[in-house]
Amino acid sequence: MVTKNLVAVGLTAMAFAASASSNDDRVESLIAKMTTEEKVGQLLQFGAWKGDLTKRETVERERKGLVSSYIWFERDPKARNEHQRNAVEGSRLGIPILFANDIIHGCDLTFPISPFLAGAFEPELFERTQSAAAYEAAAEGIDWVFAPMCDVARDQRWGRVQETCGEDPYLASLCVAAQVRGFQGKDPADPDHVAATMKHFVGYSRSEGGRDYNVAPFGEWELRNVHLPTFRAAVKAGVKTTMSSFNDIDGIPACAAKHTLTDILRGEWGFTGFVVSDWDSVSESIVWGYAKDHADAAAKALAAGGDMDMLANSYGTLVKEVDEGRFDVKILDEAVRRVLRVKFELGLFERPYVDETRLTWALDEKNPKRIAARKLARECVAKSAVLLKNDGALPLAGGKKIALVGPFADDAREMLGAWTGRGHPETVVTVKAALEREYGERIKYCRGCAVNTGRRTKTLQDGSVVAEIDTAEESSIAAAKNVAAEADLVIMCVGEPAGWTGENASRAELTLTGAQNELFEAVVSSGKPVVTLVFSGRMLALPRVWEKSAAVMYCGQPGSEAGNGLVDLLTGRIAPSARLAMSIPWDANRQPVYYNSPITGRPQYGKYRDKTEKEQRAAYPFGFGLTYTTFRYLPTVIEGDVASCEIENVGEREGTETAQLYIHQVACAEGVRPVRELRGFKRVTLRPGEKAKVSFKLDAETLGYVDRLGRDRCDSASYEVVIAADSARGGENLSICRFVDSSIRRLD
Ligand code: NOJ
Repeated sequence: MVTKNLVAVGLTAMAFAASASSNDDRVESLIAKMTTEEKVGQLLQFGAWKGDLTKRETVERERKGLVSSYIWFERDPKARNEHQRNAVEGSRLGIPILFANDIIHGCDLTFPISPFLAGAFEPELFERTQSAAAYEAAAEGIDWVFAPMCDVARDQRWGRVQETCGEDPYLASLCVAAQVRGFQGKDPADPDHVAATMKHFVGYSRSEGGRDYNVAPFGEWELRNVHLPTFRAAVKAGVKTTMSSFNDIDGIPACAAKHTLTDILRGEWGFTGFVVSDWDSVSESIVWGYAKDHADAAAKALAAGGDMDMLANSYGTLVKEVDEGRFDVKILDEAVRRVLRVKFELGLFERPYVDETRLTWALDEKNPKRIAARKLARECVAKSAVLLKNDGALPLAGGKKIALVGPFADDAREMLGAWTGRGHPETVVTVKAALEREYGERIKYCRGCAVNTGRRTKTLQDGSVVAEIDTAEESSIAAAKNVAAEADLVIMCVGEPAGWTGENASRAELTLTGAQNELFEAVVSSGKPVVTLVFSGRMLALPRVWEKSAAVMYCGQPGSEAGNGLVDLLTGRIAPSARLAMSIPWDANRQPVYYNSPITGRPQYGKYRDKTEKEQRAAYPFGFGLTYTTFRYLPTVIEGDVASCEIENVGEREGTETAQLYIHQVACAEGVRPVRELRGFKRVTLRPGEKAKVSFKLDAETLGYVDRLGRDRCDSASYEVVIAADSARGGENLSICRFVDSSIRRLD
């Protein structure tokens, strides 16, 4: 057994301590001067509601040093500086305010959402996109952003899968670490960078039934191996802050869970930043029935390791609690220390104001940084749309008449997706705009139906209620069918509204919305080949679309450069290379469906009696994605401590393949391990007929897991190892090795 975690944690803690030490004296000298009220003030984050900001009491509060942070301040550098001036120049101790906002997948210029960008299997892209987002955010005076989202996506009914980096902890860990590096840069005090937040700590994605804000039942084993790895990766990348989640952790609201906020985060991982609660969640522990009033809620959350109260509805009560001796001032001091340390590390004391002229230039389309960001956004779209099916309709052949149909073809707002930061439709190139630029007159467009209207319900004589599409929508669908009939090929743009994903946007069905099913069927009945582009923040279950389309591309919510990037793929200028970072289920009833579940004691049973063998699994599994050529994998070979396999391009075009290393520990682990776990990947670009050998080192880190005490561990045991094209393929090619005392032996 190998345990290296304790050493790693020790080193991390020392590294943090060294970089923070120069600020410690400044923090201590401030704390020594602070009243209890000023200390508590440093733990309060207020909503920057327009109506409140102009009030006299707001200004007074700032001048008393009682506002630590604002969330959602409007994009107005001048106003931001005015409020900052009240705190810095008007208050006794001059402690600056931290301005925070949700910048998730781009600020003004919007990039593809994370589960699709993760599917590029090129985590470094996140570093570049979030660095571009940080530049725009910092230019308006945002110091602190609420990303990366570190939750893993397992249930597509949960609308917030849209913000995750997919269902696999290994891939998602690389992606969130890259986001931290992108936001914070080498030094978050750099004026072009911001502090990042890892959220939501922890287990939020496990919301029962996919219903947002619900209870999240899971045990220590799942916590350690499924939910924590991404957060640990963000801490290793130096993330400055953590946001606690809305769910409970084993019966305790996460904002007050000492086990995670103190024992693991600080004790085991050496995190030295601060923890902010999620939106009013401290007060909500009263609604949970966990705290009896605001004072109780605040005391429980602060004692557990929650430092800042988002929306400031409960922590204000602590002044009285401390002054009257009911709450230990040492705990309060420690939280204040953490908040102040981050403010110093961000250079806020030296540079509290934003240069008010920067924003206009940052957003100027002639700014070289903006030009580079647009180019990057286009590259990201092309690298994140997943080709699910292709009967030969793609890439588009020259000279054809193309019908462009569907409510997503020319809807700029929908391309931005949910959680758009400062994103706005004027930045967007739609599919229609890009296709018309490419093909001019050959494109005939007809929207066909709305994204989510055009249905009404009708009560029949027997009292039952049926849904039907309304007449206006019916004639518009008929028009679309005619346009399709006159073309050689149809491009259909369908999906679900952006607002049906993100926060508080759970769904019980994973279907197209409004009259889009009727539109799809009508267009298919024209007999013309249909290339379907699906736009959605979650994986919709669309068996008819998979079956009836000649080609399908799953596009997610692609952002500002949607049209340009997608047309690069449709024309074949760029070959698709993205893979699914979340499995596509056959329908909502079978949620959650994810590839890395444990084998049970009866894997052959427990199947749905009313579903075929094929339908027992995902419709398209994690890691799946086609391109315009075909690759052949030879069996995985283990030599020494290296697993390798040869891959050949057996098609007729150049293409990029993402070879994925999966492992499975056969027995002897501390707990049940998943049927497969991704532990490495490599992208190779091959010309027709070209071969490449991809290799992966097998060691304790590749094969191991985290035990219930948080230690990295690798057992002397047998492991199945396979290099495959996705999480469901390659079973016939796997090899078995044995790990003994830090060395690998092949088992024949
Ligand atoms: C609630 C969300 O859960 C969180 O992700 C977000 O950062 C905060 N609200 C602030 O908007």
